[in-house]
Amino acid sequence: MCGIIAHAGADDAVGTLIDGLERLEYRGYDSAGIAVQNGSGIAVHKRAGDVSEVREEIQTAASSGDVGIGHTRWSTHGPPTDENAHPHTTDTDNVAVVHNGIIENHAELREFLADEGYEFTSDTDTEVIPHLVEHFRKEESETIVAFRRAVEELEGSYAIAALVRDEGRVYAARAGSPLVLGLDDDQYYLASDIPAFIEHTRDVVYLEDGDVVVLEPNEAQIFDENGLSVERSGECVDWNPEDVGKGAFDHYMLKEIHNQSSSLSKTIRGRVDPDNGRVALEELDAEILDGVENVHLVACGTSYHAALFGARMLTDAGVRARVFRASEYAKMAGPTTEGTLVIPVTQSGETADTLSALRTATERGATTVTVTNVVGSTAAREADESVFIRAGPEIGVAATKTFTSQVVTLILLSQKIAAELPNATTREDLPELLAALEQVPTHIDQVVETSRAADLASRLLEYDAYFFIGRGMSRPVALEGALKFKEITYEHAEGFASGQLKHGPLALVTSQTPVFGLFTGDEAEKTITNAKEAQTRGAEIIGIGPENGPGAAESDAYLRVPDTHPVCQNLLANVQLQLVSYHTAKQLDRSIDKPRNLAKSVTVQ
Ligand code: M6R
Repeated sequence: MCGIIAHAGADDAVGTLIDGLERLEYRGYDSAGIAVQNGSGIAVHKRAGDVSEVREEIQTAASSGDVGIGHTRWSTHGPPTDENAHPHTTDTDNVAVVHNGIIENHAELREFLADEGYEFTSDTDTEVIPHLVEHFRKEESETIVAFRRAVEELEGSYAIAALVRDEGRVYAARAGSPLVLGLDDDQYYLASDIPAFIEHTRDVVYLEDGDVVVLEPNEAQIFDENGLSVERSGECVDWNPEDVGKGAFDHYMLKEIHNQSSSLSKTIRGRVDPDNGRVALEELDAEILDGVENVHLVACGTSYHAALFGARMLTDAGVRARVFRASEYAKMAGPTTEGTLVIPVTQSGETADTLSALRTATERGATTVTVTNVVGSTAAREADESVFIRAGPEIGVAATKTFTSQVVTLILLSQKIAAELPNATTREDLPELLAALEQVPTHIDQVVETSRAADLASRLLEYDAYFFIGRGMSRPVALEGALKFKEITYEHAEGFASGQLKHGPLALVTSQTPVFGLFTGDEAEKTITNAKEAQTRGAEIIGIGPENGPGAAESDAYLRVPDTHPVCQNLLANVQLQLVSYHTAKQLDRSIDKPRNLAKSVTVQ
């Protein structure tokens, strides 16, 4: 986790760095800091707390400089203190470093450096890096050589940016953690993610593992792992600065819930042909499916729930499909063969557990197709092929619009796979489903405009725990509803297959445990029955279902969704649950966009 940024250019770096860090706070917000080159050397400002607190301090200290680096932290080694905040420096203040990732051999390096007389002031793994650079500078006349030698000593994953006293440049390197170069005439940026500099440029270069970069105010040079100067092809990203701002909304999460109609329209555009019952996924070469016998989906968190939905679509089409928690996949003995298609589902494309599963699949000879939001992400680059969900940047830590776009992408992918595999068949009602999918963006707008979730939330604040139940394709929505609720309200919430309630969880049900029943999809009737079993034990039932669905009369409160195709009803019910979580968290005064202990991009295993 953590976010890093660097800038070199004619403009003052300080404002650019701080603004960029605010856009990276979704990656961590335990502490923040910057270092800039100015006339008197390297000026460092850092402290525990979020970026706004560093901004205040810097404005007071009025530092300036045209070359600088910055960091926002999600703590791994050492608690969130001022001392552990980045940038880390040498005791001589000659070198300052920001780092995202984990240095696995930091203990040995620390011991070596301590023996050499270097003093450490933090608990972090990162602090070895500035000392190593300083150490090799004593042996090398060129800093780039010293920096490279320091980097070669590191084991683990890292994206690093460094300043060296009296040198008006940034030295950077990546291996296993994301780092993107932004190019804007004579201004250059490096960051963990594009939103950090999207207001300045959309022209980017995704750096490769092993790359070393030197940024100066009028030049950016990239060297490959052999130290040779290389040109990396760039691209212009299809994101706008407004995509990464809150606009008129109180929170990114609310903006992203509201924007789902437009993000989903982009997901679907050009990919569905209801008249002919066909799906087109232009980036997927059908030949890659030759010889595929079964499918494994690997994912974490919200993406795991989307994967459950996709797997159900696949099995309904006759494809042998299983879903695995990505963190469990690598150590599982041999479920993967050359006939397996492995689909890592990951919004960020950088989740360490999912990347590990992807690498396991590759080692075992499987075909891999990642479903991701981020072009140029590690997952996209390491998989054989990628299908992009096109949801645009998502800043709120709680995934919302990307879940919706993932599910729809997987619905389309499932039918594409079913059309290609010999023993599978696409759904009989595929034309109707595709036509309904085209209507979902409009239906989302209707849900968002008419939802009574805010009123409901005000009644929900005093309970002990919250349960979410669903069956068939509404089960992943129940699980996702519970995850969203616990993530941002900090209240205890659990999702269950509705049929499982009576096999154990019912013991927890009381008048203090409301039950959200997903009365959507083909199996709503049975979920209504299961919800009534909880209602009989005193629980308040909050049904989510179609306008005139049978669950309305059985519920103590009912959130309506348009009466559309059963598969699509589940997507709309999920939007209602997103709004319930949001409004409950808001009334509890929680930190909605940056929930405690969580970061959006989980780059540690
Ligand atoms: O980037 P990914 O989709 O791989 O992230 C996976 C999970 O870390 C993520 O979905 C997490 O569960 C979200 N915070 C949920 O809102």
